[in-house]
Amino acid sequence: MKASIVVLPGDGIGPEVTREALRVLKAVAQKKGHELRFTERLMGGCSIDAHGVALTDEVLKECQASDAVLLGAVGGPKWDDPKAKVRPEQGLLGLRKGLGVFANLRPVRVHEQLLDSSPIKPDRLRGVDILVIRELTGGLYFGQPKGRDRKDGHERAFDTLEYSDFEVQRVVELAFRLAKARKKKVTSVDKANVLESSRLWRQIAADVGGRNPDVALDHMLVDTAAMRLVTSPATMDVVVTENMFGDILTDEASVLAGSMGMLPSASIGEKGPGLYEPIHGSAPDIAGKGIANPVGTVLSSAMMLRHSLGLTAEAKVIEDAVDRAITEGCRTRDLGGALTTTQMTDEILKRLS
Ligand code: IPM
Ligand code: MG
Repeated sequence: MKASIVVLPGDGIGPEVTREALRVLKAVAQKKGHELRFTERLMGGCSIDAHGVALTDEVLKECQASDAVLLGAVGGPKWDDPKAKVRPEQGLLGLRKGLGVFANLRPVRVHEQLLDSSPIKPDRLRGVDILVIRELTGGLYFGQPKGRDRKDGHERAFDTLEYSDFEVQRVVELAFRLAKARKKKVTSVDKANVLESSRLWRQIAADVGGRNPDVALDHMLVDTAAMRLVTSPATMDVVVTENMFGDILTDEASVLAGSMGMLPSASIGEKGPGLYEPIHGSAPDIAGKGIANPVGTVLSSAMMLRHSLGLTAEAKVIEDAVDRAITEGCRTRDLGGALTTTQMTDEILKRLS
């Protein structure tokens, strides 16, 4: 098959990890006779430096016209001034919105060999296989109004957590569809004891649950979910939740996997290209050192093959190679090893079948 992919390496370790994912993608494409065309573009802090905005209209259009978008990470201290009008993160949010990718799939699996890399006790980690589905284009990140004003002589800041019924329904329905191919269990996470938006969320989740009696649905408050993720993570399967709740819970869940550097994500919408990115950030502290873990981005590229290009077998080839590399002891620094970013990828490449 032929496909065109826009690559947005971004900032910090972004370029280091996307470079490695491309090596893996190119190797798999060559092995299986596919023609993948990659176009690299600026997004994030690097785009602010070059064009004054984090995402230009041209780049967004190219992304919209592509088959899939692969992203590294954005942001860094250089653009972190709280008073700045333009921020790298605006590019990422604009891209998610502009592509209409309302569902962010973040699978969290614990590799048997990495049980000791997590600060959580190994007996709690065994068998963990969670799919967090984070709503990505609504909620607190996008609600209007947001801003600052003055009230009673004080400076005031405000954000809005808003959801329309259809936004909740489509992401919860996706969660149920994906649950059917797994353990048929959905946990819908909200804060319905306090937030009106969560009460709507819960009501709609219950409706969708009613139409899908073959899937077990439970509702959990987000604070409880945060606790359960570390006390009994193996009891969770598909988790679906609001944008910011999902952001927070997936950083927490990454601890289960031993390192944030391990976790991939896929953002998908109704139609059109998907967006694929590791869940980690630009890690300015290790940028340029060549020691970042490429696995999260490599596995994101596998998700891209599966979800956007329909190349299931090829995705599996990458996932199996990563799995074997980990089983056979290949480790970057974040996992207590000594392999560089490139060496870790070499190990994965050697194991592509
Ligand atoms: C993530 C990141 C982003 C988010 C930031 C960089 C805007 O934390 O993808 O989880 O909050 O969505
Ligand atoms: Mg995050």
